[in-house]
Order: sequence, then C-alpha cells, then structure tokens
Amino acid sequence: MVHPGKPRMKTTISIIKADVGSCPGHAVVHPELIKIAEEALKKSDLLIDFHVTNCGDDLELIMTHNRGVDSDKIHQLAWNTFEKAAEKAKEMKLYGAGQDLLKDAFSGNIRGMGPGIAEMEFTERKSEPVVAFLMDKTEPGAFNLPIFRMFADPFNTAGLVIDPAFHDGFQFEVWDILEHKRVMMSCPEEMYDLLALIGAKSRYVIKRVYPKEGGKLPLDEPVAVVSTEKLSFIAGEYVGKDDPVGIVRSQSGLPALGEVLEPFAFPHLVSGWMRGSHNGPIMPVGQKNAKCTRFDGPPRIVALGFQCSNGKLHGPVDLFDDIAFDRARKTALKIADYMRRHGPFEPHRLPLGDMEYTTLPKVLKKFEGKFVDID
Ligand code: F6R
Ligand code: MG
Ligand code: MG
Repeated sequence: MVHPGKPRMKTTISIIKADVGSCPGHAVVHPELIKIAEEALKKSDLLIDFHVTNCGDDLELIMTHNRGVDSDKIHQLAWNTFEKAAEKAKEMKLYGAGQDLLKDAFSGNIRGMGPGIAEMEFTERKSEPVVAFLMDKTEPGAFNLPIFRMFADPFNTAGLVIDPAFHDGFQFEVWDILEHKRVMMSCPEEMYDLLALIGAKSRYVIKRVYPKEGGKLPLDEPVAVVSTEKLSFIAGEYVGKDDPVGIVRSQSGLPALGEVLEPFAFPHLVSGWMRGSHNGPIMPVGQKNAKCTRFDGPPRIVALGFQCSNGKLHGPVDLFDDIAFDRARKTALKIADYMRRHGPFEPHRLPLGDMEYTTLPKVLKKFEGKFVDID
C-alpha cells in the first residue's frame, strides 16, 4: 500500500559492479579503468549523477536516475562502460581482463550476465541519507548478519526500542538463491524463522528490507537492497567471487547512520577469501585501503555515505576511514592470523559442499577409481 498525498518524483539508485581487470593480480582496479568508466558515464544523458570507485578488484558504478530499477537503458550503459574498461584492461594486460563479463552480447538486462546489481527506487524524503556498501572477496550472504542487525536487532539499533516510527520493525525479503524462490518475513514476529534461514548464508540471502505500517514511509519502497548474483551459478564453475554491494537508507524513521554502521564494529566471518574457498573476517576499511593483499584479502568492506538530493549525490564521505573502526580492523587482523594457521583445514577452508564451485573438484577427480572398499 502506498500512502496517498504528495506527487511522486521517484529517484533510483543503481550500483552495478564488475571485475573487469586489476593490478597486480586480483588486488586493485587500475586508475586508468576508473577514468574510462567516469568518461563513459559523463557522456551519457541518462543519469542525474554518478560516482565511480573501486573496492579491491571490483569496478563500482554508483548511479542515480529517474528510470526505475531494471531499466534496459541504464543496464546497457553499465554493460558498455564495463566493456570499454575491459578493452583497456586487455590492452594493458591487466589481470583477469573482462573476467566478470560472462556473456558476449547485451540482451536487455544485465542480470545473469556476470556483473552484480543493487538497485532501489524510492520517493526522496525531506532529507535522504544513503550508504553504499561495497565488499570484495566474499559472497552476497556476507550482508545477512549486518543487515539483520541494522533492521532487527535491538542490541544494535536502539531505535527499534525507542523510536515509535519503527518500533513495529521491518519486513525482510529473503531469497533462496539455489532454488530461485523468495519469501517475505516480518520482524520481530518471525525473527526466529528469519534467523533459521539466513544463518545459512550461502543459500538464503536478504535481498531487500521494507518498512511496516506505523511509520511514514511508503510500504512498497525498499529501505535496503543487496546484490545477490552468484557468478558460479551463472558460469557453472569458479570464475571469481561475487563481491556483493548494498544500498541502505537511514535516519528519520529508519536506523540512524551510526546504527547502520555499528554491525561492522564486529568483523564477522564470511566466505570467499583466497580462491573463493576460505572463511575469514570482513575488515571495514577506508577506500584507500580497499585493496586485497594478504592471502588475497582479508575480505574488505567500504562504506560511502551520500546525501541524495533530487538524485544529486552529495558526498561521498568515506565512513570507515575513521579511528572508531580501528579496533574492528585490529580484531579482523587477529582473526585473520588465527584462521590462517589452519592452512588447508576446515573451517578456514570452506566445507566440501561449498567447494563444489571452486577448482577443488578438478583435483579430487584424480582419486576417482583409486578408492577401494573397506571390509
Ligand atoms: C579473485 C580471488 C583470488 C583468486 C586467486 C587465484 O577474486 O578471490 O583469490 O581466486 O588469486 O587466481 P588465479 O586462478 O587467477 O591465479
Ligand atoms: Mg579479479
Ligand atoms: Mg573482487
């Protein structure tokens, strides 16, 4: 149901990202590719505003427009931009040039073609603070814990307890990315059911969060969205990690900016480190430290804050580039040491089921026929 009243001039934020080549190895996007992407987006008359950046080896296009989600024109623009950057990456022999562009030709929607997409269309409030979250060396389920804590955990978000505007909680849209099905769950009533699903983060992922009756926000407009593309499901084999992105709106009837950032004071364990095959802590970093070095990681997250004004993006403010997250980074490094000492052993290495889409099955093939029955 949509609240009646003012005419709606909606804004769409689209973050579309892809790894189209990096330098050296899978560490960082080369500045030359960022320049090419900026030039391509600048030339387009489709956008209100944009910001091009990177998280590790992922080229991130943060765009605003009035065309709604799944616009073929916006998707085409992103695809063409990635193609241009990939062309340069190939010319420079950058590593993994064109890696995430899994299909040859664009066919109307970028979903299922390799890049990751988080998009939301909404009616801008009097003031609209938004945070773009960018992760590298992990999978979409890495957002489950922090998004749950922002919108459902009263120990994280004081507003759930003391702000009447969202004391009734939020609705969660959860996707089963294996079966390609979705379910809506309402918190706090169905909190334990929600956790029963999203604790299994390699299969059930929070796709969107919606407000509930009682607040001032339109009920059909999301307040958070996460990219859920799984590269291995598209390609049928390991081709790099999904490295998801998310968009979260905040304040005035939503979790405050500080409540949105608070979950990252705890560097939780995520999957996707080294060869997409290891668990490790996700480390909140400023953009200048969004480069994957040690054991191709550890997995990282960047948070860019904007004030969105009629589609114009004021910012970004590099939110984790702050001493308040120093301790989280130190803890992440301590956990990284501890996890690394397990070497090839689980639970540092992913459980066998999750290794199915890595290069390990090719190695295990060697033993087929060598096993004999135990009497
Ligand atoms: C890439 C990633 C890396 C690679 C690893 C091996 O996103 O996670 O850890 O999997 O560097 O890469 P190749 O097989 O290209 O040498
Ligand atoms: Mg790469
Ligand atoms: Mg990456």
